[in-house]
Amino acid sequence: MEVVLFGLFSSEDEELYILDCMAYCMIFMAVGVFVILLFEKLRYGRYSDSKYGFPVNAKFAWFVQEMPSFFVPLCLLVWASPAKTSLLPNQLLIAMYIFHYAQRCFIYPFLIRGGKPTPFIPFALAFVFCFYNGYMQIRYLSHYAEYPADWVTHPCFTAGSVLWLVGWVVNVHSDHILRNLRKPGETGYRIPNGGMFEYVSGANFLGEITEWVGFALAGHSVHSSAFAISTIVMLASRAVHHHKWYLAKFEDYPKSRKALIPFLF
Ligand SMILES: NC(=O)c1ccc[n+]([C@@H]2O[C@H](COP(=O)([O-])OP(=O)(O)OC[C@H]3O[C@@H](n4cnc5c(N)ncnc54)[C@H](OP(=O)(O)O)[C@@H]3O)[C@@H](O)[C@H]2O)c1
Repeated sequence: MEVVLFGLFSSEDEELYILDCMAYCMIFMAVGVFVILLFEKLRYGRYSDSKYGFPVNAKFAWFVQEMPSFFVPLCLLVWASPAKTSLLPNQLLIAMYIFHYAQRCFIYPFLIRGGKPTPFIPFALAFVFCFYNGYMQIRYLSHYAEYPADWVTHPCFTAGSVLWLVGWVVNVHSDHILRNLRKPGETGYRIPNGGMFEYVSGANFLGEITEWVGFALAGHSVHSSAFAISTIVMLASRAVHHHKWYLAKFEDYPKSRKALIPFLF
C-alpha cells in the first residue's frame, strides 16, 4: 500500500493537496447531484429501473459495494505506515467510521429481506463512492489530521460524537423496523411504525444523516464535511421520494408524518 502511495504522490504535501481537492470535488459533485435529484430518483430499491443496467442481487450488491468502505481504510491502517493513529481524536474518529462500515458491510446485507435487485450502474457508482470516500476519510485521519491535545473534550467533539452515536442507533433501529415489515420470502411494502417512523418517513435516512453530521462536527475538516453534505443530498432526496410514494400508495398513511425532519419537513 505504501509503495502504491509513493508511486502516486511525489510528497506528503502533494497527497494532502489531492485529499483536499477530493473533498472539494465531492462537495461540487453533491451540488450537481442535488440538481439532478430534483428531477430524478436514486434508481435502486423500489425505484429500480432496467435501463440503469442488469439487476444485481440486493444482498450481493450491498456487500460488494460497501466493501471498499471497510477494506480501503483497513489497508491504509495496516500497510501505509499511518503517522497519526497514536493520537486519541484520530483513533476515535477512525473507530466511528470503521464501526459504521463493519455493520453496513458484514451485517446489514445478510439481514435484508426480499430487497429489490440493484441495477448495475447505481451498484457500480456506490462501489466507486465507497472507495473514494474510504481513502479520503481514513488517509486524512490516519496520516494528516492534527487536533489540539484537548480536542476530545472540546464541545464540537463531544456533541459530534453524541450525534454520531444517536444517529447510528436511529439508523440501525429504523432499518430493523423496515426489515421486520416483511416475513421471510415476502417482497411487498407496508406502513412502517414505531421509533422515529412515528415522526418521519425516512427514519433510517434521518439516522444516517445525523451520524455523518456528528462525524463532521467532531472531525472538523473539509473531508468529513464533504461526506456529510453528500449524505444529506442523497438521503434527503430519497426520504422525500419515499414520503410521496407512501402518501400515494397508502390512503391511511399518517398525515402528520413528515418526510425527514420531525414536525418540520
Ligand atoms: N451514506 C449514504 O450516502 C447512504 C446512501 C444510501 C443508503 N444508505 C443507508 O443504507 C441503508 C439502506 O438504504 P436504502 O436506500 O436501501 O433504504 P430503504 O429504501 O428504506 O430500504 C431499506 C430496506 O428496507 C426495505 N423496505 C423499505 N421500506 C419498506 C416498507 N415500507 N415495507 C417493507 N420493506 C421496506 C427495502 O426493500 P426494497 O429493496 O424491496 O425496497 C430495503 O430492503 C439505510 O440505512 C441508509 O441510510 C446510506
